[in-house]
Amino acid sequence: MTAQPRGLSFGERAEEYDRWRPSYPAAALDWLSPRAPASVVEIGAGTGRLTALLLARGLEVDAVEPDPRMRAVLARNNPGARCHAGDSTALPVPDGSVDAVLVADAWHWFDPGATMEEVRRVLGPGGWLGLVWNVVAEPVEPWERALAGAPDMYDRETKGGPEGVRERLPLAAPDELDFAQFDWVWELTPEQRAANLATTSMAIAMAPTEREAWLESARAELQAVCDAQGRSSMPIRHRASCTRWTPA
Ligand SMILES: C[S@@+](CC[C@H](N)C(=O)[O-])C[C@H]1O[C@@H](n2cnc3c(N)ncnc32)[C@H](O)[C@@H]1O
Repeated sequence: MTAQPRGLSFGERAEEYDRWRPSYPAAALDWLSPRAPASVVEIGAGTGRLTALLLARGLEVDAVEPDPRMRAVLARNNPGARCHAGDSTALPVPDGSVDAVLVADAWHWFDPGATMEEVRRVLGPGGWLGLVWNVVAEPVEPWERALAGAPDMYDRETKGGPEGVRERLPLAAPDELDFAQFDWVWELTPEQRAANLATTSMAIAMAPTEREAWLESARAELQAVCDAQGRSSMPIRHRASCTRWTPA
């Protein structure tokens, strides 16, 4: 049996993914998406965490998702979107036909050069590519530093900040890029933290016993913090890290 690429492994946990991945803050959407009436392509739409927010803003959405298990949840939850099987390098819309191409927590799985060429093809005049990653913010409080020692949801260095994102956009001239970050807080119990981590590609790639051990250590770590603070959950600070590429 051929191993599937990690970027296409989320479908193994499609329902859990939909339940335990966070949404995106309104301020990030205000910055990233065009105002209605407008049409957008969303690539790597997954189960539709971003898609639902775009539809709620009155945008016309073509959602592209290669994994049939993710796409089934996407279509079920978002009947207002046109859902397509497909890859980031072959978008199912005509040349110059959309106002924006948007990607949430997925760009790092794509072929960046070929996808940027394809994005350039489908964007209309003045259109842009908008990227967002939900990352756990740098630790500030001592209890946050204690948690930061554990394997984390996301790679802050390469996904979150402008430096890492610039490297992921090889065809962009520096003056074509804009960056913005929006902080938000997700209150999580230890069990919820473990449920969220179980949806990461890292957890999905592990052998079952290794995964259980990892998730239990993450759960116990937050439990220890909760016990020390006399709380049942803790406010985990997150950041929606956004980038816009507006090709000249
Ligand atoms: C981490 S999930 C993000 C899903 C969704 N955007 C969200 O915000 O929850 C990454 C998604 O990208 C999809 N994906 C991976 N490689 C892709 C590719 N080459 N083209 C399009 N989508 C891809 C995966 O199937 C998966 O659904």
